[in-house]
Amino acid sequence: MKMVLASKNTHKLMEMKAILGQLGVEVVLESDVGVDVDVEETGETFEENAALKARAVMEATGLPAIADDSGLCVAALGGGPGVYSARYGGEGLTDADRYQLVLDGLRGELDRSAKFVSCICCAFPGGDTITARGECPGVITYAPRGEDGFGYDPVFFLPEYKKTFAQMTAEEKNAVSHRGRALAKFKTELENYLHGTDQ
Ligand code: IMP
Repeated sequence: MKMVLASKNTHKLMEMKAILGQLGVEVVLESDVGVDVDVEETGETFEENAALKARAVMEATGLPAIADDSGLCVAALGGGPGVYSARYGGEGLTDADRYQLVLDGLRGELDRSAKFVSCICCAFPGGDTITARGECPGVITYAPRGEDGFGYDPVFFLPEYKKTFAQMTAEEKNAVSHRGRALAKFKTELENYLHGTDQ
């Protein structure tokens, strides 16, 4: 079975290919099937945004489509930046500008608990959808630490590992991350679905 990844991100493509290849699923990019769908992420939850993206690409291609939506939720910021993580603070900011905004927002705050959330949705042409959510709890540091990773990685600290995401190797991060957990659940859900529908 062929599935289209509703993303232009080749890093996500590699992750999806590695996991779903084990189920005999061929994952391709939108550009491989000649579409370029621009979806406005108007949902208020990660689930809604992932479903919006997956459905739009499924409708444009007639093929099952997979999308994901993720972000950082900080308790003392009322769950923000949440679904606005990628655009927190507005257009034109760097990753460092955005995580600095989070640090500024937590100045003097004792509750620094946070979690990363990832939601993956697959929309099938018949109207069925499969959704999987992964979460990774942690705390926000007082200053950035580590050089690797992207986004909010330098300020997201895992007490059990005594490291931020930016101080972990890709393997270490994938083993515990929100995305790694969502992908593992998604694989199981998809396996059950494909068995159930005999495809
Ligand atoms: P998405 O591509 O729409 O899911 O955007 C999610 C945004 O959340 C990214 O632009 C990052 O700012 C943030 N984010 C999601 N996952 C991670 C992660 O693993 N590390 C750091 N930031 C992340």
